[in-house]
Amino acid sequence: MNIFTILKEAGELDEESKMLMDKATAVLPVAYAPYSNFRVASAVLLDDGTVVTGTNQENAAYPSGMCAERVALFTVASQHPGKRILKLLVLAKIDGESSLAPASSCGPCRQVMLEFEQRQSQPFQVIMQSQDRQWVKAPSAASLLPFCFSNASLRVTK
Ligand code: THU
Repeated sequence: MNIFTILKEAGELDEESKMLMDKATAVLPVAYAPYSNFRVASAVLLDDGTVVTGTNQENAAYPSGMCAERVALFTVASQHPGKRILKLLVLAKIDGESSLAPASSCGPCRQVMLEFEQRQSQPFQVIMQSQDRQWVKAPSAASLLPFCFSNASLRVTK
């Protein structure tokens, strides 16, 4: 059974996801990506309708930069504690190109999404554009990270 919804075009996304696409696209200009020229934006929908966005923020000391998804998620935790995440969308654009670039969340971002999901005891949808330019709707962060490490792993006793 395939739990992922695959859509050929962004136009086939549901209205909420399209709204998140618009919000994410609007903040692409404030991504700071002078090293990769790969701008990423994420938009997170909360249970009271709030949308929190984040963009990638790079640094001359490369590993000190941060991905868009984690910027958005950490902002949610810092500024909207107690609110539940319903949906997270991520998209990207390469400087100088007009169309969006595929942006499938990296492993560390998936790991952070997983912990946010576990903290709220409720899954949230993750929407992103896969390498073949199709839009993928995942039903949960956990679905993107099988055989995961989580807080439960720290508590296993024999
Ligand atoms: N990036 C993200 O913002 N999210 C991801 O899931 C993958 C990669 C950023 C990090 C870096 O600024 C740029 O994209 C190129 O890797």
